[in-house]
Amino acid sequence: MTSSAEWWQRGVIYQIYPRSFQDSDGDGIGDLQGTIARLDYLAWLGVDAIWLSPVYPSPMADFGYDISDYTSIDPVFGTLSDFDRLVAEAHRRGLNVIMDLVPNHTSDRHPWFLESRTARGSAKRDWYVWRDPGPEGGPPNNWLSEFGGSAWEHDPASGQYYYHAFLKEQPDLNWRNPEVHAAMRQVLGFWFARGVDGFRIDVVHQLVEDATFRDNPPNPDFQPGEPPSHALLRVHTIDQPEVHDIIAEWRRVADRFGGRVLIGEIHLPINRLVAYYGVELGGIHLPFNFNLIGTRWSAETLRNLVSSYEAALPPGAWPNWVLGSHDFPRIASRIGNRAARLAAVLLLTLRGTPTMYYGDELGMSDVAIPPQSVRDPFERNVPGQGMGRDPARTPMPWSDETSGGFTKGMPWLPLGDYRHCNVKLQAQDPDSILWLYRRLIALRRTEPALSLGSYEPLGLDPECLAYARRYDGRRIAVVLNFSEEPRRVALPDDARHGHVLLSSREGSPPDSGRIVTVQPAEAQVLALE
Ligand code: GLC
Ligand code: MG
Repeated sequence: MTSSAEWWQRGVIYQIYPRSFQDSDGDGIGDLQGTIARLDYLAWLGVDAIWLSPVYPSPMADFGYDISDYTSIDPVFGTLSDFDRLVAEAHRRGLNVIMDLVPNHTSDRHPWFLESRTARGSAKRDWYVWRDPGPEGGPPNNWLSEFGGSAWEHDPASGQYYYHAFLKEQPDLNWRNPEVHAAMRQVLGFWFARGVDGFRIDVVHQLVEDATFRDNPPNPDFQPGEPPSHALLRVHTIDQPEVHDIIAEWRRVADRFGGRVLIGEIHLPINRLVAYYGVELGGIHLPFNFNLIGTRWSAETLRNLVSSYEAALPPGAWPNWVLGSHDFPRIASRIGNRAARLAAVLLLTLRGTPTMYYGDELGMSDVAIPPQSVRDPFERNVPGQGMGRDPARTPMPWSDETSGGFTKGMPWLPLGDYRHCNVKLQAQDPDSILWLYRRLIALRRTEPALSLGSYEPLGLDPECLAYARRYDGRRIAVVLNFSEEPRRVALPDDARHGHVLLSSREGSPPDSGRIVTVQPAEAQVLALE
């Protein structure tokens, strides 16, 4: 890989959950004008691209993941011209813009579905997945919704059921219908032509279901506390082979425009995930690698994770790592504030495009949501079992003003401790995690070894995760101490000296040398000379 690398290979992606980033009109909900007002912050932080969770018109049953018009903007976020301005203002600052595409399902208020449900014979009937009742008059089969209950909703008017992998307000499109393909290709073209640099595609692995609608088998390893839908193995509802043809189609559209990126939200084990790069890499550019989120936080498990991921990548496939999203507890709450600094170093020094979630650069924690403030439909459907995603979606704290400067109105979700955790405070403190992120992103930019270099595991110390990144004669070592003890680590034999480029610890930088001391929960980035 040379200087011909694409922007999405070199760059850092920053996920914005627009409802929670910055409100501009006092309705308590973040919007596009607000996001535009914060672009300077993102440029200061140094990221290369923003991915916006959906901003299309939506009844908001799943907060934008239920789209009722794919080629417009919901008034709560602004207008199409606000969006055009956002793209222009982002590009002016060297930031690319990635939209969220939700092709698996629409809103039940989308005109396509409204027409589909009018009658069995309607022109759009077959755009969705309609079935007659099962032999007992109940649902056609045992498929379960991700958000609890049956995945089939009865439609009294026609006597049939429609399939919804998520909420009943999110009917699945029928991806076996070529008209659906054509409609979605037009959506891609519409936004690419407006200057959008890529799409993060929602649950790509769920687009197609079994053609004969066989029951899913029970999951013998199902544990209480898992989402109820995991009681079945989803062998007939996810990861069907036909999905790759659909992706290849989208890829051809993206390639026609050039310089665009397709990112896939795919929750699958590594061996199945990597198939989404496609035949001859003609599929998704970046099938999201969520494994940092589920893996136990230890040197050993992470070492094994990175090795197995690196080993599974098809030749030429570009890796990527995700540390957080709007669907999971925040990293600082998963592993603690101290370890979150280590995680920042890991994310930004591993080989592959890093995706960070807004607020994680502040070490934001999950916010406890009192029952009366719950907004997430998953929590409402499956209450009290920790399924809710609101805690990780709370507004960004910008300052210690009321509501953290997020809104002048009533924030749609409560804020956390914004008086002690906010952008303004941390921007003044060079020891803050915000500055650590900023330094890491800057280092990644000035050291191509960190963005484009090879990955070599270094077996320096069992308590430490250590690896080298090498590019064009430059070698950089990263040593992360997961233990509670300081570790004295000898650098590889062929290195005369390790020069510390960055440490995750507060205070003055550690000494450089052949043997380095790495403090508990410290990560060091060293140039090997
Ligand atoms: C994806 C989104 C999630 C949404 C679901 C249904 O997993 O990330 O937020 O609820 O798809 O669209
Ligand atoms: Mg607003």
